[in-house]
Amino acid sequence: MTDAATAQRDPFAALKDQPADGLLALIGMYRNDPRTSKIDLGVGVYRNADGATPVMAAVKAAEQRLLTEQTSKSYLGPEGDPVYVELLKPLAFGEPLAASKRLIGVQTPGGTGALKLIAELLKLTGSRVFVGTPTWPNHGPIFKSAGVEVIEHPFFDKATQTVLFDEMMAALKAARAGDAVLLHGCCHNPAGAEFTEAQWQILSDFIVERGLLPIIDLAYQGLGNGLEDDAKATRTLLAAVPNALIAYSCDKNFGLYRERVGAIYALAETEALAQRVLGNILVIARTHWSMPPDHGGAIVRNILQDAELTQIWKDELAETQGRLVELRMLLAAAHPRLAPMAAQTGMFSLLPLSPDQVTALREDNGIYMAGSGRINIAGLTIENIPVLSAALSRYL
Ligand code: LMR
Repeated sequence: MTDAATAQRDPFAALKDQPADGLLALIGMYRNDPRTSKIDLGVGVYRNADGATPVMAAVKAAEQRLLTEQTSKSYLGPEGDPVYVELLKPLAFGEPLAASKRLIGVQTPGGTGALKLIAELLKLTGSRVFVGTPTWPNHGPIFKSAGVEVIEHPFFDKATQTVLFDEMMAALKAARAGDAVLLHGCCHNPAGAEFTEAQWQILSDFIVERGLLPIIDLAYQGLGNGLEDDAKATRTLLAAVPNALIAYSCDKNFGLYRERVGAIYALAETEALAQRVLGNILVIARTHWSMPPDHGGAIVRNILQDAELTQIWKDELAETQGRLVELRMLLAAAHPRLAPMAAQTGMFSLLPLSPDQVTALREDNGIYMAGSGRINIAGLTIENIPVLSAALSRYL
């Protein structure tokens, strides 16, 4: 029987088996490991000193308000909650850009939802996308799933823990006007490494000169050097370029992971063009999820509308960021090869390990991390850093 005939009889026959997502599979593997000494440095979720991921106090208070004050669950439309989208603008982009009619935004299910809309938009514009490696493992598949050509270039060398800026700039020379360049706004996932201010400037000039379209993935604002500092590179770039796309996530900085709270923003050369981009985004959103889920965005809106709740949230976020910095210092002091991690930022760093070494650490020592050697800094504790360092010493 031909494949086509088999497929006709069994509509699922044409499907191939798929491996589980490497990163997300770690959640189940860790849960099923009976060893009490196990250490979870896998998926990027903040943990306090007790290893818990508590709901932020500001979030609890906002949910309480929603419970008593929300009067309807009726549809809001494909743009989601416009007040939420507006309130995030000054936080992420500062003034005067936040007030510009050249900047439009739409609520999305998480940063991934925003990236999916960006990918589908690039499909319509015919742009290719340049992506530095290593990057978040979901970036490539999101663009490819929309049929967008992904061109990889070097970004970071994990053996020497250095940003490969010159190699990246050389590779970007192959970009054509209208092509997109994906950039991490802060707290690079997985490298934790940043461009210097001077490098951002060179990159920004290059983008303008070549007519490229920057895509900024801003998923960790506040977790690196604080809310303002983490937005600096994004704001500098947006002040210089005529057009840009931004995928914003509140999943980490508001601790709302499973609520999936994000937004897409587009900066266009004119107000009229921005409205055209908005119209296209809404059409794409309608065919993907029709309308974004509301609860997470409503929580963020309630927090940012209220000065007292905003302060509580900012204090909690600063505490989170402070803990990450402290853990980085301890990690860097534990082994000379880990010293560069003190100067890196955010939730992640990349250990200079091979995939086999990562597997051995999991099997022999119960230490869980992404296959790339990426560790979640928030999974470290004063107690487990010496254990990790001792286990690593056979490889470093
Ligand atoms: C991560 O990189 O660990 C998180 O962003 C979780 C995810 O969706 O991959």
